[in-house]
Amino acid sequence: MPSDVQEKWLMPVDEESFVAVRQAFSKRCPEKVPGALGPKERVYLYYAAKELFEGRGAMVELGAFLGASSQALMGGLTDNPCAAASSSKLHTFDIFYYDDSWGQQEITKLYNIVSGQPFLDKYRENLAPFIDRIVIHQTDILKVSGFDEGIELLFVDVAKTEEILVHISDVFLPQLQVGGYCLNQDFFMTGLSYIKSFTEFFADYFEFFDPGCDATLVMRLVKKWDVSPDRMRDYIALSLEDKMSLHKRLNTRFGGDRQQVLGESLKNMSAPFVTEKMINHGR
Ligand SMILES: C[S@@+](CC[C@H](N)C(=O)[O-])C[C@H]1O[C@@H](n2cnc3c(N)ncnc32)[C@H](O)[C@@H]1O
Repeated sequence: MPSDVQEKWLMPVDEESFVAVRQAFSKRCPEKVPGALGPKERVYLYYAAKELFEGRGAMVELGAFLGASSQALMGGLTDNPCAAASSSKLHTFDIFYYDDSWGQQEITKLYNIVSGQPFLDKYRENLAPFIDRIVIHQTDILKVSGFDEGIELLFVDVAKTEEILVHISDVFLPQLQVGGYCLNQDFFMTGLSYIKSFTEFFADYFEFFDPGCDATLVMRLVKKWDVSPDRMRDYIALSLEDKMSLHKRLNTRFGGDRQQVLGESLKNMSAPFVTEKMINHGR
């Protein structure tokens, strides 16, 4: 592992440094966009875009909602001292149509957004200070067939089904640069248990860092994502028992408070929901 890991704050940080980053973020973005994102995660995203991102590749966000994560990433990009980075754009992918089943009613009430209605105009308003530097891809993520730039930082907050997770891995992970970061917002939570079995199955592609910021796990790619369709089908064909064993093994990687949330996630693991498309993956 490179010696700059601590310096680059990939590991849990002391309170003092955290407060300093939070203050810089607040200065850049005094009004926070409402969102499905914890307060510490916002600070971490700001930090990652400001300090970890070097502008060697694209910054991509999957799952933007009203723009809370976009704001934190754009705030960090703007304050990034490296010219190549601070002039970079953020590519954001979202369907931008609200569905009540996400359980975000408190926020959507604020904006008068109702189920089945688009909310891209609200996103644009919320991101107004940065909008010229955001490339908006309004689409169902399952319909995205490719992304042709190398990716240095990938923020994932859309893997709400295993099919989406597999699709993201097909389309975006092959573009992630070795040494690039995947910030997985759906990780330290008691649901979406398949994300944990999937992560463990492909664990040799990543180094893992827990910045101690809400649900986000930071993964750094250590070798080219070259997972073949056969290998992905091996994963897809796993039984519930196999996936639970993987989840159990993954849990041993993390200590402290994380044990409890990952333990609950393991208990919540349900039988794999495998679609036709997944069975025929890559064929
Ligand atoms: C948890 S929210 C993202 C929260 C956001 N990162 C924030 O900071 O508030 C998940 C997002 O995924 C999007 N989404 C869900 N399914 C999708 C799909 N199939 N294709 C594209 N976007 C999708 C939703 O529109 C929603 O904005």
